[in-house]
Amino acid sequence: MTNTRPPYGADVPGLPVTRPDSCPFDPDETYTRLRADAPVSPVRCPAGMDAWLVSRYEDIRGVLTDPRLSSRGAGSMHMLPSYDMRDPLPGSMIQLDGAEHARLRRLLIGEFTVRRVEVLRPRIQRIADECIDAMLTGSSADLVRDFALPIPSLVIFDMLGVPYGDHEAFQRDSEVVMGFDADEATRDAASGRLEGYFAELIGQRIAEPRDDLLSRLIARGNATVRPLTVGELATLGVLLLVAGHETTASMIALSTLVLLDDPERKATFLTAPELAGNAVDELLRYLSVIQFGLLRYATEDVTIGGTAIRAGEWLVAAIPSGNRDGSVFPAPDTVDLGRQARTHLSFGFGAHQCIGQQLARIELQVALTTLLRRIPGLRLRSGPAMPPPSEFKLNDIVFGLRSMPVVW
Ligand code: HEM
Repeated sequence: MTNTRPPYGADVPGLPVTRPDSCPFDPDETYTRLRADAPVSPVRCPAGMDAWLVSRYEDIRGVLTDPRLSSRGAGSMHMLPSYDMRDPLPGSMIQLDGAEHARLRRLLIGEFTVRRVEVLRPRIQRIADECIDAMLTGSSADLVRDFALPIPSLVIFDMLGVPYGDHEAFQRDSEVVMGFDADEATRDAASGRLEGYFAELIGQRIAEPRDDLLSRLIARGNATVRPLTVGELATLGVLLLVAGHETTASMIALSTLVLLDDPERKATFLTAPELAGNAVDELLRYLSVIQFGLLRYATEDVTIGGTAIRAGEWLVAAIPSGNRDGSVFPAPDTVDLGRQARTHLSFGFGAHQCIGQQLARIELQVALTTLLRRIPGLRLRSGPAMPPPSEFKLNDIVFGLRSMPVVW
């Protein structure tokens, strides 16, 4: 296969980000054509640089496991328009490679094992029940504000030992960091505030350790030959907080919408509790909330899907496309709650695969089953129609809903 090399010229298509009018959950229809005819094709990222768009499932797994393809400077936020190639902050493990990345991941991984996060299930259940108790004191609510956001936020704040009283400022700054709208200076200021907050908190935990993740991370780092610096710890803290609530909150709200949209689907979800595990993975596959995919940078020449990629070129692993690849998931545009969907790409793949995935699964299982059981008459305030496009976060790194007015 022959390819033009970057820069590809004025006619390079933009990243496919237009969802069809018929279904807001489906990714851009262009992906179907690309998977069939041009599985590795030139694309212009929102940030302005050209890249190779990789749209087939197997090729995406190839991209995400190839050590010659770097995550350095390639956090998905750099898909935003004001992209520039800066060195990642020390501690930003999602953007580090090889030994630098492994050092941080090793220190953190023990906090997120299945056994470790299962212990949190009763606490997550209590949080979900308290949110619903508060909702039921009235007759309507905003499901995003009153349920989907507080659950993962409270859980991750708790884990880290961050006082929940500070969550509103966090929420505001985190939205700026993850959004499409702010300019670079505004985003830098927001992320600076988040880092500054953590640096102060870490100072307190160094002086007076507690039984929380931050204190344990400090102790674990101190037991190694290269203890974590305050800067590294602060960046890790911000990463966990931002990664840990926005994604899961979006999944809770969108999944509720998908389940309410079809009474039979909702009944299946509720009547077969053993399905809940599968169902959550199928919803993760179907919704692909990391909607722009993941960015990588070639440090050497590589061949992906038969296409020669040169050192110095960018690649976008199109997660929403891989999750709808019919050669892996038959009838990919159908929600099949019994499907074995655990091999989906929504948590990424390879060295950086989401460290919080078991926690996210438990949060989703608890949130969705508790909500639909305790409020069986839950419905959209606007009736059976889908919320208008303006309510969907179409331009943010994480696909989601701004608000979701509900009644019961
Ligand atoms: C539905 C919820 C979630 C989704 C869809 C999601 C998605 C992802 C994806 C796609 C990656 C890989 C990024 C890459 O390869 O560049 C990732 C990494 C990561 N996620 Fe998640 N995530 C979710 C929940 C969470 C939670 C609850 C936490 C923590 C409490 C978390 C923490 C992280 C961290 C720290 C990384 C970086 C891992 C590394 O670089 O080794 N995520 N996540």
